[in-house]
Amino acid sequence: MTTHDAPIGVFDSGLGGLSVLDAMRARLPSESMVYIADSGHAPYGEKTDAFIRQRSKAIADWFVARGAKIIVVACNTATTHAIRYLRDTLSIPIVGVEPGIKPAALATASGVVGVLATAATLRSDRLKTLIAEHETRCRFVCQAGHGLVEQIEQGNLNGAVIDDLLTRYLTPMAQAGADTVILGSTHFALLAPAIRRLFGERFALIETGTAVARRVDALLAEHGLAAQVHPGSGGRTEFFSTAGTARQREALLAVVAGLSTTTGAPWP
Ligand code: SIN
Repeated sequence: MTTHDAPIGVFDSGLGGLSVLDAMRARLPSESMVYIADSGHAPYGEKTDAFIRQRSKAIADWFVARGAKIIVVACNTATTHAIRYLRDTLSIPIVGVEPGIKPAALATASGVVGVLATAATLRSDRLKTLIAEHETRCRFVCQAGHGLVEQIEQGNLNGAVIDDLLTRYLTPMAQAGADTVILGSTHFALLAPAIRRLFGERFALIETGTAVARRVDALLAEHGLAAQVHPGSGGRTEFFSTAGTARQREALLAVVAGLSTTTGAPWP
C-alpha cells in the first residue's frame, strides 16, 4: 500500500462521528477510511479530561500502527481535551472538530445563539475562548445535552425520550430569542431531523461535518497525500467499535445504513 492509498483514520466516542464521516465520504469518495466508535467508553462528555486524553491517544496510536495518513478526531469533546496532545506526540496531520461559534455568530439575525454541547466541551478553555471572541457580536445560551449521547448510542435518534430531552434543552433557547443553534457535539448532528420535526425552521442548525471534509481535502492536497484514482473502484470504509453490547453494535450498523453516502465493507 502506498501512502496515497493509506486510509484516513476517523474516530469518535461512539456513533456521532458518523455524521462527519458521511460528509467526508461525499467529498472524498476515492479515499479509504477506517472508523472507530469508542462506544464501549461513551459518553466522553461525562468523563475526566485525563480519561478523554488517554482514550484518544490509544485510538490514535492504533491508527498510526495501521499506517493511517491522517487522523480525524470526529468528536468535539476529544478535540477540545486531546487534540493538542495528539499533535504534540504524533507526526501525521490531525484534524479536529470545533463547535461552529464563528459561523453561528455570522449567521444569527436575532443576536442570540444556542450552544448544545457536552458538559466536558462546555467547561473547556477552548470553547470559553471562542465564545469570548464573539460575545461582542451576539449572546450565547449554553446547554449541556445530558442524556442525549446515551440515547444515540442505543440507536435512538427519535422517540419519546429524545423528544422530551430536546424540548427541555431547546425551548429555553427559543424563549431567549435564539434563531441559530450550534450542534456542538458530532452526536447531536445526528439529531438534526428530530430537531426539525419538533421545532420546524425555528433555528438554523450549525454542524461541522462539511467544514471538516473541506479541511481534510485541503490537507490531502497540501501534503500530496490524496488517493490515486483507480478506475471503477471507490475508497473502502471499515468500521470498528469497542461497544460492549450487541445492542450498541446493532445501533452502529443501523446508523451506518442510514448514511447518505455509499460505504464499503460494513464490518471488518
Ligand atoms: C460524548 O461522548 O459525550 C459525545 C462526544 C462529543 O461529540 O462531544
